[in-house]
Amino acid sequence: MAVLPILRFPNSRLHIKATPVVAVDDSIRQLVRDMAETMYAAPGIGLAATQVDVHKQIAVIDTSDDHSGLLVFINARIIERSGECDSEEGCLSVPGVHEKVKRSEWIKVRALNEKGEPFELEADGLLAVCIQHELDHLDGKVFVEYLSRLKQSRIKSRLLKQAQDAAP
Ligand code: NI
Repeated sequence: MAVLPILRFPNSRLHIKATPVVAVDDSIRQLVRDMAETMYAAPGIGLAATQVDVHKQIAVIDTSDDHSGLLVFINARIIERSGECDSEEGCLSVPGVHEKVKRSEWIKVRALNEKGEPFELEADGLLAVCIQHELDHLDGKVFVEYLSRLKQSRIKSRLLKQAQDAAP
């Protein structure tokens, strides 16, 4: 297993739309394991393949306290949604930034698991928010893009400066 490097906003590769996985094979399962390890190491509660520069429709999520609740979403679609909530979100690709965005309160999602088996899941609360956030990544969208242009440009310049300061 391997911890993969995570792309940071405003890297333009975060805007690439992921394509569906054609076959859930051993190479996909290896990627899923690496993504889970990367998410746990960060530490985070969700990671989309886009964030590790792989543009396939794969996301991993674990909102448990003890790494016991890994969920794998391959070719996921939200097929029903209802309600609206304000969620305070952060993102491994936008370190140090926490902002409120609007999300559906309840969703029903259809996806394949790491065995390639279809499943449906109904979610609310943190899990629902997390799924919406990760599926946005696969669509090329980072959560800060819901914010005002002014806030986005402040976040951009702060992260660019951080990257510059960190460079050797
Ligand atoms: Ni994120």
